Amino acid sequence: GHRLAVFASGNGSNFEAIAAACADGRLDARVVLLVCDRPGAYVCERAARLGVETFAFRPKDYVSKEAYEQDIVRMLDERGVELVCLAGYMRILSRVMLDAYGGRIVNIHPSLLPAFKGAHAIRDAFEYGVKVYGVTVHYVNDELDGGKIIAQRAFDYTGADVQELEAMVHAVEHPLYVEAIAGLLAGRNR
Ligand code: GAR
Repeated sequence: GHRLAVFASGNGSNFEAIAAACADGRLDARVVLLVCDRPGAYVCERAARLGVETFAFRPKDYVSKEAYEQDIVRMLDERGVELVCLAGYMRILSRVMLDAYGGRIVNIHPSLLPAFKGAHAIRDAFEYGVKVYGVTVHYVNDELDGGKIIAQRAFDYTGADVQELEAMVHAVEHPLYVEAIAGLLAGRNR
């Protein structure tokens, strides 16, 4: 099977969706490393429960982003990682990661890109008052949320409950991300 790494900063529901798809055979792959920039994040508990090796680090313990990314790249190289899946990793990658893994890094973003880039896409779209929401899986390049689109899924929501909306976004994200990764590993979706 293929060898994946997931990068996450928070809750980790997308990480768990990917790991579960590996476990039940929907993905012919294994998550060989979780990278997390917040050692207390819930995603680290999920990884421990699922037996996924974790590199959790504090950016402040390093002199620079390039320095911690050099450590990450070494770990990815050592484990033969083929595809890096960002899943709520709330940091912009530097040249170190992009030079080493460019073209093999994908991200999930909770809006229909190119609308609502950035860290607060669901809230921004909700406050804007859109009636069609969605999710995007895309390649990562040096433009924020700007890489080539791999997959998108849209849904209608006209309610006024942002928590209900967030739950709907996550429910769309999990299968879309798994299907997009499956396509990439099978050589489709390019
Ligand atoms: C997801 O909704 C993901 O799309 C979003 O963070 C959430 C992480 O949830 N990513 C971004 O906003 C990136 N700009 P999770 O930790 O439960 O997977």
